Amino acid sequence: EKGGYPDFMLKEIYEQPRVVRDTLAGRLAGGALAIDELGLTLEELNLIDRVYVIACGTSYHAGLVAKNLIEGWARIPCEVEAASEFRYRNPIITTSTLVVAVSQSGETADTLAAIRDARIKGAKVFGITNVVGSPVARESDGVIYTKANKEVAVASTKSFIGQVVSLTLLAMLLGQVKGRLSQAQVRLLFRELGDTVQQIQRILDQQRPAIHDAALACKDASSALFVGRGMGAAISYEGALKLKEVSYLHAEAYAAGEMKHGPIALIEPGFPVIAVATKSPTYDKTVSNLKECEARGASLIVVATEGDKDICAIADHVIYVPAVRDAFSPITATVPLQLLAREVALLRGCDVDQPRNLAKSVTVE
Ligand code: F6R
Repeated sequence: EKGGYPDFMLKEIYEQPRVVRDTLAGRLAGGALAIDELGLTLEELNLIDRVYVIACGTSYHAGLVAKNLIEGWARIPCEVEAASEFRYRNPIITTSTLVVAVSQSGETADTLAAIRDARIKGAKVFGITNVVGSPVARESDGVIYTKANKEVAVASTKSFIGQVVSLTLLAMLLGQVKGRLSQAQVRLLFRELGDTVQQIQRILDQQRPAIHDAALACKDASSALFVGRGMGAAISYEGALKLKEVSYLHAEAYAAGEMKHGPIALIEPGFPVIAVATKSPTYDKTVSNLKECEARGASLIVVATEGDKDICAIADHVIYVPAVRDAFSPITATVPLQLLAREVALLRGCDVDQPRNLAKSVTVE
């Protein structure tokens, strides 16, 4: 059942190129994006003036990525909120509000409750789920299935990638409908999205030794910090969650610009700082934050873009990912952090598929 892999987590990480391919299949018809299952007409989509992405855990982190894309491409204000918070406050919802509910299992109690509330208040609700016919799928106006197939390991890996790709398609569609992305731009983005299939494969084929060395540098730590900016911050949150879940090593993620407002006090010689510093408009800013960590003796593990030699001057360990546009960096740069979490967990003798205290689906609040 594990198909020759030692655990489901590794098997599922290696399935990610296929998940991207299947999630994209058939989405570009006649040069335009097609998401027929949306359940909304183009007129209804065009009226949307506010988006909430609601989710929990890893799915929430996919929402952080979506916020950047929806605001960037469609220029629609977008908030991301934990479903457990959203349902207990009084968010501003009108009939031109789109609520995007993201849930691998499609049955998370808080997410479902948030969907029900939002629909009563008149919002259109769009579900992104991995489970066909699940409550989230049934109770939404429309749904995109993430095509990850059954995920067995409790910690979510391939589902996250499926969610990010699905949300990327949704953001492109909104950009297209709002007239902010031309058909030519959509086609170019779609082609580059397709390229991430091989790019993820290259990370899997080439970066395992570097990730193993980085894991050795973390295994005896009592805490670790993940940092990045923009998309790199969203990836960092997911990296920290994965490490906590499977290795029981305390980890926190911060937007790199927040370092000097508190967390830098934690840094002492040998303290692991894991940074996402891929090439992006804020690359130089992130590097200067990392220099401050290095000056205080941090053990620096950096996810960087292939060809970035300069980073070696400050990093103790570099994990390279192929160059992609910043918008697509979560699809590639998350993969080494999933593998890092797993390696640290194994070095610490943990069961990576069944972490203590966690359940695969959380149907009570
Ligand atoms: C993390 C993880 C959890 C889930 C969360 C939401 O690896 O698996 O944080 O992401 O419980 O679950 P779904 O997506 O099923 O609503």
